[in-house]
Amino acid sequence: MIDEIQRARDAALAVIGSSDDASLDRLSGELLGKKSALAAVKAGLGRLDPDARRTAGQALNEVMAEIAAAIDDRRAQAAAAALAARIAAEQLDLTEARPLQPRGHLHLVTQAWERLEDVFIGLGFTVAEGPEVETDWFNFEALNMGEGHPARGEFDTLFVGRDPSEQAGASGTLLRTHTSPVQIRAMLAQEPPIHIVAPGRVFRRDTPDATHMPVFHQIEGLVVDRGITMADLAGTIEAFTRAFFGEGFTSRLRPSYFPFTEPSAEFDIRRPDGSWLELGGCGMVHPDVLRAGGLDPEEWGGFAFGFGIDRMAVMRHAVADIRDMYVNDIRFIEQF
Ligand code: PHE
Repeated sequence: MIDEIQRARDAALAVIGSSDDASLDRLSGELLGKKSALAAVKAGLGRLDPDARRTAGQALNEVMAEIAAAIDDRRAQAAAAALAARIAAEQLDLTEARPLQPRGHLHLVTQAWERLEDVFIGLGFTVAEGPEVETDWFNFEALNMGEGHPARGEFDTLFVGRDPSEQAGASGTLLRTHTSPVQIRAMLAQEPPIHIVAPGRVFRRDTPDATHMPVFHQIEGLVVDRGITMADLAGTIEAFTRAFFGEGFTSRLRPSYFPFTEPSAEFDIRRPDGSWLELGGCGMVHPDVLRAGGLDPEEWGGFAFGFGIDRMAVMRHAVADIRDMYVNDIRFIEQF
């Protein structure tokens, strides 16, 4: 009987050793269950005399425990192997992921544009936009520069109409010479309080040189609310200066003239080394401009500012010739 138990044990261990995870549950029934060889041996124990029955019974228990342990081991082994196989199958070789083409990046003017938006959004502004092809009314008339206003001469305008009659009057079309027409569009589009910045492309009939391009970029700011004063304007310019340029930079306003603001100012940035940089124009929104925007100047007041984006990029990266930014020579562009 002991021999029989040993044979059943050897046979069982051999089967277990070569079985896979899926068949282990079935095997445990076959090797230890009621219909197993060992169960048959157990049934025969009763026929033995007490001494032999005890020895054989003990051997039988040990073998059954051994087989159960072998099944557990095999199951753990199979699980570990399955996990290892899954890990191997899901492994990513990151050194293999080589881009087929070099990665590009945003143009340096776009970088400046987006940083400006970020800073103004941080100060509580939302971003607005207007069309690049504008009417004379939005670009000039509504901004207190009616036909014949001498300030029009400062904007070398590119007209879109084909013959001069299409250019005349408030409905004439042109390429906007500044982002200020977005002030009017914002006032007509929404009720105050208004806090917008409007970055965008602007156009002037200029011959390109190291500091001028006929196409360039500006960002406009407009705040309209009750009780707005020049202190709000100065404080906003100062907060922007610190947020955009960093601690150690401050700003100042210098009296100036724009038809669409009264009073008007230029604003300068003081660098940590004490030097000054002229940045842009600003002022309190002129009552005529508020009226053109459908607002009662007795009730509402506001300030506006505007400055060039290209110049920010030029300064930041010490670009010697502004034209370099637009000839799209990759050897230049990829440096920034
Ligand atoms: N639009 C003016 C320019 O192009 C700048 C400006 C904007 C001035 C807003 C005052 C207020 O020069």
